[in-house]
Parts: sequence; structure tokens; C-alpha cells
Amino acid sequence: MTDTPHPDTVLIVDFGSQVTQLIARRVREAGVYSEIVPFQSAEEGFERLKPKAVILSGGPGSVPEEGSPRAPEIVFQSGLPVLGICYGQQTMAAQLGGSVESGHHREFGRAFMTVDAPSPLFEGVWSVGEQHQVWMSHGDRVTQLPDGFEVIGSSPNAPLAATADEARRYYAVQFHPEVVHTPDGAKLLSNFVHKIAGLKGDWTMAAYKDQAIAAIREQVGDGKVICGLSGGVDSSVAALLIHEAIGDQLTCILVDHGLMRLNEAAQVVDMFREHYNIPLVHVDASDTFLDALEGENDPETKRKTIGRLFIDVFEAEATKLGGADFLAQGTLYPDVIESVSFTGGPSVTIKSHHNVGGLPERMNMKLVEPLRELFKDEVRALGRELGLPEQFIGRHPFPGPGLALRCPGGVTRDKLDILRQADAIYLDEIRKAGLYDAIWQAFAVLLPVQTVGVMGDGRTYEFVCALRAVTSVDGMTADFYHFDMAFLGQAATRIINEVRGINRVVYDVTSKPPGTIEWE
Ligand code: XMP
Repeated sequence: MTDTPHPDTVLIVDFGSQVTQLIARRVREAGVYSEIVPFQSAEEGFERLKPKAVILSGGPGSVPEEGSPRAPEIVFQSGLPVLGICYGQQTMAAQLGGSVESGHHREFGRAFMTVDAPSPLFEGVWSVGEQHQVWMSHGDRVTQLPDGFEVIGSSPNAPLAATADEARRYYAVQFHPEVVHTPDGAKLLSNFVHKIAGLKGDWTMAAYKDQAIAAIREQVGDGKVICGLSGGVDSSVAALLIHEAIGDQLTCILVDHGLMRLNEAAQVVDMFREHYNIPLVHVDASDTFLDALEGENDPETKRKTIGRLFIDVFEAEATKLGGADFLAQGTLYPDVIESVSFTGGPSVTIKSHHNVGGLPERMNMKLVEPLRELFKDEVRALGRELGLPEQFIGRHPFPGPGLALRCPGGVTRDKLDILRQADAIYLDEIRKAGLYDAIWQAFAVLLPVQTVGVMGDGRTYEFVCALRAVTSVDGMTADFYHFDMAFLGQAATRIINEVRGINRVVYDVTSKPPGTIEWE
């Protein structure tokens, strides 16, 4: 990602485990910069990043199988400390002269490992003779250790659960220290990077901020940058950071598509223009969007229409400003980690996500993506470093196509008004109950269904509002939030009493999968 390597970097060679990202997270939490590189390009990643230590991830492959992935030899020739995890442990054993067997050794889930020998990997965490919970997930296992290795931990099903060649600073574990089900795993990874690799742990957000500002100045020179602002935390932090780097060379554009939440556009304008004094163009394009959406029921057509118009409006505004050399985007690290694909097959499109892709080529702009090395919580920490108020930092994600996705069936101005009010009340109740931060995302959905009700002795025939709240780590999977019924009753009562047009409220108890978080 970077042209100038960070001084202390840990290279994580990805063999395709579902949890490789967690290794990077744990290393960064220990204050050490880390990057993930797929095994196919690990040699090139090694040259580029000049790491001080290497971690080999787990993966679905099987080492005894012909053609299964290997770590590049440079990893072992370099003299650097290496930690192999699961598949990484097995390929390490095979590459260093040991052997690995397939079959008959499947083991998934919780296991208890006995500490057999002292090691810097366990220092201050585990002592000899103790038993500790670890998380196993493997089908193969190492049957013969390479020369120089000895067993430092074992479990009934994995006699070589943890092994080490202390002289060469090689460590290999069958279990996954990166997952929370290995409760002390983060401490072991911290020992690996600090005690074994001797890295300082000075990768903090304050340091990152200075480095990122210098990198933006170098990339942009005296060029002009435009940035699309949505009010979401990613674009807000990107804009603040770039503004701190290059001041008025940055102009932000807020395209109000008429699908934002109650007072949202005004809050963003106030924040950036008034509070930070950042040049901001506020384009009210709601008529363009809402006219185009009229009568459109199909979710994909709605998404595509919004995406296309967004680019048109954004481009027109950028042209009015006299064009720009760069487009800033709040792309995050999970979006750019190259995934390890074993099948190479195309994956199905569940939803067309909205972004401004395509615009840079059309307008001959280069991209500035100052957050592309960061995970979401690191972006939040950077936002705090830049003085962004908590109310922006902790915000639930909001999709680019906005409330259109929360108005199944046709979108109309009237329905949007009703939805905005219901949504604001629901979020107000959530905040008042102190639940906002415990929930990944919460919102109201206005169903295209009317039902009969009775209010004040009169008959009503109004819309149904569905409430949604989920917990999630990355939005890829989610569970519905288990509210107390009294809370839901209170939110429903307020919505029905205060919002004209809704006479019934239901709660969505679908997880993802099989549902998605948004309704469209
Ligand atoms: P789904 O509905 O696919 O959503 O489970 C997962 C997460 O992504 C958000 N989302 C979007 N974000 N542009 C965005 O920027 C989009 O087009 C978009 N669609 C869904 C959704 O709100 C949830 O957080």
C-alpha cells in the first residue's frame, strides 16, 4: 500500500484463512504496523515492505497435497523471526524439513493445551505445567518436527500444538491465537512482536496522522482535490485529514440526493463549513433523484439509478469548480486486502453497491485514499486525533443510496418524510436507552403496506413501520439486536403517536445471512 515502508512492519502471509484479518488487527493493537499479502505475491510484498517479522496465516489448503501453497523461501533465508499459525505452521514444518500428514486428525473448536516448556512466546502469560484454552481448526497435522524445533505446548489431539526453534526465532502453533476463543492469544502475538522480534510498538494514531499528512502533501503537491462527503465517518475523517495536509486545495462536495436522514445534510454542512471552515459545496439535487426514482419498485434499478445520477451530479459540480487533479475517497483496508482465491470463480452480486467508481477515469483524476491502510476502529481513532466530535465518530453506517433502500416499493417525497420522522424517534429512543454504541446499525423501514387501526374511536388506514437493529463486526454477517420488549413497546408507541401516516410497528428478527442488513 505504502511507497515508503513503515519502520517496523510485520508481514502477514495470507493462505486464505477466514480470520487472517484478525492477525493484522491483533498485531496493530500491540502498536506494530502490519500488512496482509496473499501467498502468491508474498515475495514481492516482502521486498516492498521490508518487514521485521513474518506471520504465516492459516488456510484451507492441505500441505501434503501437490501444488499446495508455500511461503516464499526469502522468509526463511532472511533470518527474521517467523510465526506459523495452523496451515502456516504446517507449511513451515514442511519447508524446513519436517513432515505433515493429512486425514484422521480433524479437530475443530475449543481445546486445552498444556504448556510443556518455557518460551518467550509465553512469557508473562503462561507457565510450564498450566493448561489453557486454545482454538483449533485443522484437518492435517505436523508429524515430524524440523531439526532445531522442540515442543513447547501439547494437547491430547495435537501433541505438537506449539513448537519453537528458539535459536532461529521460529514459532509454530497449531491453534489460532488471533481469535477471541483463544483468550490469551492477543498476548502471545504481542510477545511475538515485542519480546521475540524486538519491535517497539510505537505505531500510534498520532504517529500515523503525521505520516499520512506528509504522504498526502507529497502525493498531491499543489494539485486540487475534491472529496465527496456523506456525513459518514470514513469520508469525514478522510476530508479532515486531507484538509489538515493541504488546506484550501481541498473542496468537499455534499450531494444531497433527498434520501438523507432528518437534518443530516444541515449537520454535515454546519460541521464542515462552519466548524472546520473547509470549503464545501452543498448541492441540493433531491428533485433530480426523486423525480428519477418515481414509480420505480425494483431494488437494483433504484440502486443503479442513484449511483448513475450521483456520478453525474458530482461530475457537474466538480466541473463547475474548474475540475480537480485528485478525487479523495474514504476507502478502508478491508476493501483493499486482496483476497486469496482458490477457486477463482466469480461470486454472485447480491446488491450493487453505490460508490463513485468510474469517475476518476472519466474526469482524468487520480485517487487519494488516505485511509486505505486502516481498519474501521483505527479510522475512528484517527478521527478523534483530528478532533472530530464523538457524535460523528461513533455514527452507525449509512448506505450511499440512503433512505431509498428503506422504502421498499416506490419512493415518494411523502413516504420519505414519514420515514425520516419515525427513524429519528427510533434513534432518539435508542440513544436515550444508552444502547446506541452497543448496536452496529439501527434504522426504520417504511413498508409499502397499509393496515387498519383504531385511534381515538376512529378508524385509521396507514403504513406499517418496521424497526431494524443489528450487531455485527464488519457488516458481512449480523445478528438482530435482542431488545427488551418494553423498549420496543415504548419506541412503537412514540412512533405511532407522533408520526402521521404510521399506525403499526413491527420488529425485524432476521439475521444475516439469511437476510441482509438493509431491506433492499
Ligand atoms: P447489507 O444490506 O448488504 O449491508 O447487509 C451491509 C452494510 O453495507 C451497507 N450498505 C451500503 N453502504 N453503499 C454503502 O456505502 C451501498 O450501496 C450500501 N448498501 C448497503 C449497509 O447499510 C450495511 O451497513
